[in-house]
Amino acid sequence: MVRFLVVLIFAISLLFGEDIYSKGEKLYLSKGCPSCHGVDAKGLHEYPKLANRSKWDLRRRLYKLQKGIASSQQSSMMIPFAKTLSDDEIEAITYFLENIHSSANEESYDIEYESWGDGGS
Ligand code: HEC
Repeated sequence: MVRFLVVLIFAISLLFGEDIYSKGEKLYLSKGCPSCHGVDAKGLHEYPKLANRSKWDLRRRLYKLQKGIASSQQSSMMIPFAKTLSDDEIEAITYFLENIHSSANEESYDIEYESWGDGGS
C-alpha cells in the first residue's frame, strides 16, 4: 500500500511538473519575453540570460521588478513586463526557465574527420 502511494505521488508530480513547464513555456512565448531575452532565453546583448537559472533567484528578481524596484537603468524596460504577470504565472515561467531544454545543453558530437592522402589532387 505504501509503495502504491509512493508511485502514485511520483506519477502525479511528474504530470504536474510537465503541466507547469508547458504553461510556463506558453506564457514566456505569448507575453513577448523572447523579444528581449531570446526564444531560448539565452539572453541578447544587454538582456540577461534566464535559461537554467535558479527558479528561486528568478522569482525573487521578478517580484522586485513587479514592485517597480529597479536595480539598474535597464530595469525600467523590464518593469512593465513583470507587472503583467500574476503570482501563478511567475511560478510557471520561472519553473519553465529553470528547466528549459535548450539546444545548448544537448550533447554535441564532434564529427570525426580524418583526411587521407593528399586529397587526390
Ligand atoms: C523590453 C525588453 C524586455 C522584455 C520584453 C522582457 N524583459 Fe526581462 N529583462 C529585461 C532587462 C533589460 C532586464 C535586466 C533588468 C535589470 O538589470 O535589473 C530583465 C530582467 C529580467 C529578469 C531578472 C534577471 C536578472 O538577471 O536580473 C527576469 C527573471 C526577466 N527579465 C524575465 C522576463 C519575462 C518572464 C518576460 C516576459 C513576461 C520578460 N522578462 C520580458 C528586458 C526585457
